Amino acid sequence: MEKMKWDARHSVNVFDMDENYQRLFKYINRIIDVQSKKKKDSNELIDVLVELMEFVKFHFKNEEAFLAKYKYPETEDHVKDHRQFSKKIQTFRRWISEDPNNFTEDMILYLEGWIINHIHEYDMKYGPYMRLNLYLQNFNRKKR
Ligand SMILES: [Fe+2]
Repeated sequence: MEKMKWDARHSVNVFDMDENYQRLFKYINRIIDVQSKKKKDSNELIDVLVELMEFVKFHFKNEEAFLAKYKYPETEDHVKDHRQFSKKIQTFRRWISEDPNNFTEDMILYLEGWIINHIHEYDMKYGPYMRLNLYLQNFNRKKR
């Protein structure tokens, strides 16, 4: 399976979002490594998934607080997409703990697909709004 590679096409260009996504890509690549082993180790898989879940939680929390702080009009929709992903990872984790062989490439493709779609359909949408707000904040601060 091909690994995920972050490049500037995926740049949201707001705060540390790009750095967050680079880390997310790395987690997915670790999952690909574990998945490609002949004998799948359920502990190893669960460990990576738990780490991914923790990081995703941290990332979502920061981003949601940021969107709410600047009253981004599409926050609710954005948060809904986050919740869907969190639920899915939890389901995958449950399936793996039942049997590590339940974990398939399709599941990795789902994770990859969600991440790419979320960056391009949701995160990039708030980019201009956030940059304008940050600009205004900065501008008004300097004026005072
Ligand atoms: Fe997001």
